[in-house]
Amino acid sequence: GAPIEVDLSPIAEGQDIKVFWRGKPIYIMNRTKKQVEEARAVNVATLPDPQTDQSRVKEGHDQWLVVIGICTHLGCIPIAHEGSYDGFFCPCHGSVYDTSGRIRQGPAPLNLPVPPYAFVSDTKIKIG
Ligand code: FES
Repeated sequence: GAPIEVDLSPIAEGQDIKVFWRGKPIYIMNRTKKQVEEARAVNVATLPDPQTDQSRVKEGHDQWLVVIGICTHLGCIPIAHEGSYDGFFCPCHGSVYDTSGRIRQGPAPLNLPVPPYAFVSDTKIKIG
């Protein structure tokens, strides 16, 4: 599939959109300061799949989280802004992901993957 460009300007702080890239759902979340702080306050060593929030976002665009919305357990589509970590909740077997898309509870073994993407301007990304 070809890369896609997504305009971020309609996504208000605290909101998200879902787009499709190569047939996969991609969540783009404009995180609040609180959500970014929550993601960074965690002791990474305690996580099932230890990754810093900084390694999962683009420097200088810290509020933007872009993840593939496919649960790493058995492939259901998690729901954004649900679950006890204010991130994503998978209704199939109860996996809970945090505001960085990292797995925190439930049977999923890995964080939601970050697709290849780049900022082409402050308000536009290219995925793929
Ligand atoms: Fe998401 Fe099982 S597919 S918890």
